[in-house]
Amino acid sequence: MQFEPYARAKGRKRFPEVLLQKPTLATTLFAVLLLVHSSLALEEGQTCVADRNCDAGLHCETCVANGNVRPRCTRIQPINPTSKVKGLPFNRYSWLTTHNSFAILGQKSMTGSVILAPTNQQDSITSQLNNGVRGLMLDMYDFQNDVWLCHSFGGQCYNYTAFQPAINVLKEIQVFLEANPSEIVTILIEDYVTSPKGLTKVFDAAGLRKYWFPVSRMPKNGGNWPTIDDMVKKNQRLVVFTSKASKESSEGIAYEWRYLVENQYGDGGMKAGACPNRAESPSMNTTSRSLVLVNFFRDLPDVTKSCKDNSGPLLNMVNTCYGESGKRWPNFIAVDFYKRSDGGGAPEAIDVANGHLVCGCENMATCKANMTFGACQLPEAEATPPRAEAESHDSSFGVRNCKQVDMWWSFATAVLGGMLLAL
Ligand SMILES: *[C@@H]1O[C@H](CO)[C@@H](O)[C@H](O)[C@H]1NC(C)=O
Ligand SMILES: *[C@@H]1O[C@H](CO)[C@@H](O)[C@H](O)[C@H]1NC(C)=O
Ligand SMILES: *[C@@H]1O[C@H](CO)[C@@H](O)[C@H](O)[C@H]1NC(C)=O
Repeated sequence: MQFEPYARAKGRKRFPEVLLQKPTLATTLFAVLLLVHSSLALEEGQTCVADRNCDAGLHCETCVANGNVRPRCTRIQPINPTSKVKGLPFNRYSWLTTHNSFAILGQKSMTGSVILAPTNQQDSITSQLNNGVRGLMLDMYDFQNDVWLCHSFGGQCYNYTAFQPAINVLKEIQVFLEANPSEIVTILIEDYVTSPKGLTKVFDAAGLRKYWFPVSRMPKNGGNWPTIDDMVKKNQRLVVFTSKASKESSEGIAYEWRYLVENQYGDGGMKAGACPNRAESPSMNTTSRSLVLVNFFRDLPDVTKSCKDNSGPLLNMVNTCYGESGKRWPNFIAVDFYKRSDGGGAPEAIDVANGHLVCGCENMATCKANMTFGACQLPEAEATPPRAEAESHDSSFGVRNCKQVDMWWSFATAVLGGMLLAL
């Protein structure tokens, strides 16, 4: 997304985490306890000191914007839906999508210049892909006789809005697709490239042609996409959309809004209870478009507030957009700072969408391999508290391991969590 350079004069906020990095008696004691008890990985919501204390798929953070100052394990990975159900059409899955995936906090421009553009994410494309991000929103510009990723304005890239040549990031995607032969990645290009065959050249140079999902196989009238299985078998595992309509006939790059509907981005898309389409998209209930994309991020990205946005408000918007889209769950949910939340965050929103899309359940966590659609496993009513429900997944995604926490440990975390909170 382009940005309005004059709107961002306000000082940028620092990470609230910095506040918690000063060693105190409580954190030191807590760290010692964690060392003693290092075999025990913590679950979502439990008090932690560092990422390594938390289970796989979680990291340790606070959400001060929600008044949540006690660092706890929060999710950074959705459950991989294809680990349980592979045979469905592509439009029957939901994918975690990063808005301006390339605009990474603290990154310097490869021109050598300081970057003055806002940033939207915290980790590299490779790290995002490894965490289960499968949709990447990339802004591409002609710049320095090449195609660059810029977070710029007026359709023009400058040294201080240029992140890096697009080929670098496209090569990261190529490496991921090569190493993960059953994964599918979608790229949504905000396209300012006007150089002849500019995009074609850079995708070819990155070695991505062999994964290309052809426009001819995309459903034009609201039909189902090919199945995941089929896309994997044919190695057509890269889906690319451009915002420039003419490139569909000239370069074989699908024009985004011929295939998907998308809600308003920025502040205009964050008003509770409404899910209007963005100007370029047909209305959300247009079922001749098989895919639905939900944007949920501010005009001005805010790392501090993103944890709050990506929590309850995001889930509410996913539900609102479901209603506005002709009772269709989103196939893509696009956020800023996807790792930030006060608990389940964007990965949880994806699990909810996938639960409905893939198996007809409230959450992907209750989908089982080869189950009958809608025959959901109901949470066991008595004896077991919900968090102790064991879920084992055969992939590396979103593992909320459910090792029993012994009494001593619960007591210690409660006491020390309290001490941390009191500081
Ligand atoms: C932009 O960066 C390039 C180096 O990549 C440099 O040669 C050029 O002088 C810079 N332009 C401006 C206007 O600073
Ligand atoms: C589809 O949505 C538009 C608003 O975006 C609305 O005007 C129209 O009535 C809706 N159509 C149906 C069939 O619900
Ligand atoms: C699901 O079905 C497939 C093929 O029908 C089979 O190979 C697989 O083992 C089944 N998985 C489970 C968990 O039953």
